[in-house]
Amino acid sequence: MILYINSCVRHNSRTNKIAKALIDLIGKNDEIKEVKLSEENLLPLNEERLEYRTRLIEENNFDNRIFDYAKEFAKADTIVISAPFWDLSFPAILKTYFENIYVTGLVSVYDEKGQPKGLCKADKLYYVVTSGGPYVPDYSFDYVKSLAEDYLGIKETKLIKAEMLDVIGYDSKGIVEDTILNLKHIIKEKTTV
Ligand SMILES: Cc1cc2nc3c(=O)[nH]c(=O)nc-3n(C[C@H](O)[C@H](O)[C@H](O)COP(=O)(O)O)c2cc1C
Repeated sequence: MILYINSCVRHNSRTNKIAKALIDLIGKNDEIKEVKLSEENLLPLNEERLEYRTRLIEENNFDNRIFDYAKEFAKADTIVISAPFWDLSFPAILKTYFENIYVTGLVSVYDEKGQPKGLCKADKLYYVVTSGGPYVPDYSFDYVKSLAEDYLGIKETKLIKAEMLDVIGYDSKGIVEDTILNLKHIIKEKTTV
């Protein structure tokens, strides 16, 4: 199953367009499950929600539906995240999603030395981003890569980017189309930012 986590907001999102083309390319025979974050009822953890969740985790009671996102993430074979570059990072709803899925016992555990050990099944996570100016990965792709590979057990994280889309003089439509045309090559290359 390919899990598509769509954090795009705009109706004509260019990031979503590239992500959908990627899924068409990699997901010919797979079941695709899209989670459009802006249409989900995801809330950041406040004290009440955190205490409730902590109690369920301590009781080893993972049947509650608040854990559905985490279970779905853990069992996906491939993960695609689309995230426009916002304020040097990504939309807050995506951070809220991470907060909701990062459940110790479902996506990650600590080993006997206190080191995190990922429990997620996915071999690959694709991170698709578009940016208005030059793309800087420090607080978006680099963070997601570290989370995915070092904590969640996902073997490889791949960046797909289209940048300079809002700069006068740049052909934004052409950049997006070129990115889509090049996807076949981009997904084979080693990620360099
Ligand atoms: C709230 C907001 C914050 C943004 N912050 C940045 C930024 O920090 N750097 C940048 O290069 N572009 C920034 N942009 C421009 C977007 O990254 C760019 O327009 C992107 O292609 C939008 O993706 P979309 O077409 O999928 O919505 C921002 C746009 C918005 C709406």
